[in-house]
Amino acid sequence: MKVVAFNGSPRREGNTAQALETVLAELRKEGIETELVQLGGRKVFGCRGCGGCRRNKDLRCVRGDDEMNEIMAGMFAADGILIGSPTYFSNVTTEVKALIDRCGYVARGMGEDNPLRGKVGAAVVSVRRAGSNFVFAAINFFFTINEMIVPGSSYWNTIQARDPGDFARDEEGIRTFQRLGTNMASLMKRMG
Ligand SMILES: Cc1cc2nc3c(=O)[nH]c(=O)nc-3n(C[C@H](O)[C@H](O)[C@H](O)COP(=O)(O)O)c2cc1C
Repeated sequence: MKVVAFNGSPRREGNTAQALETVLAELRKEGIETELVQLGGRKVFGCRGCGGCRRNKDLRCVRGDDEMNEIMAGMFAADGILIGSPTYFSNVTTEVKALIDRCGYVARGMGEDNPLRGKVGAAVVSVRRAGSNFVFAAINFFFTINEMIVPGSSYWNTIQARDPGDFARDEEGIRTFQRLGTNMASLMKRMG
């Protein structure tokens, strides 16, 4: 079993990355393979609404001018998915929105063969102060419309931090991500 985590922050070693790594560490303890994919800062664009993916039904976006098809293939191949985003003006980062829109349209265009159906997914959110609920919701809306299964934790999955390194000061946030990792592993094992 494998979990792929997408870091939607352009900061490679920021708070979102640390929160994702906290969840991945728990998953590895349970014998689950993990991979962290850097999404933030990459040259990815939004959905053009051309409908090409729905005509072709080949799990690819016809817009071939960036790296999204490669990123999306990693998501389709995983058993579990973590999408991490910092809070940017009460929403996900641009790169995470591009992933949600394009991957979501390609996946749902497959109808009954949606490759995301039945996978386990969880949101990982960093926030300085306010707006994280919208980020948490945006990512969970993506998971649930794709018929994915979402594990919970002891609190909603957010870390309160501003600068890289602030992560370590939010003890409750860290505990929340550790618990998310153990809950995700136990759900994935139960699902086989
Ligand atoms: C463009 C931008 C917008 C932001 N908007 C918000 C916001 O709406 N609410 C908030 O609490 N923090 C906001 N922040 C702070 C980040 O969410 C916070 O620093 C987060 O921990 C960064 O995560 P990272 O280290 O993974 O990049 C914003 C930061 C940036 C750069």
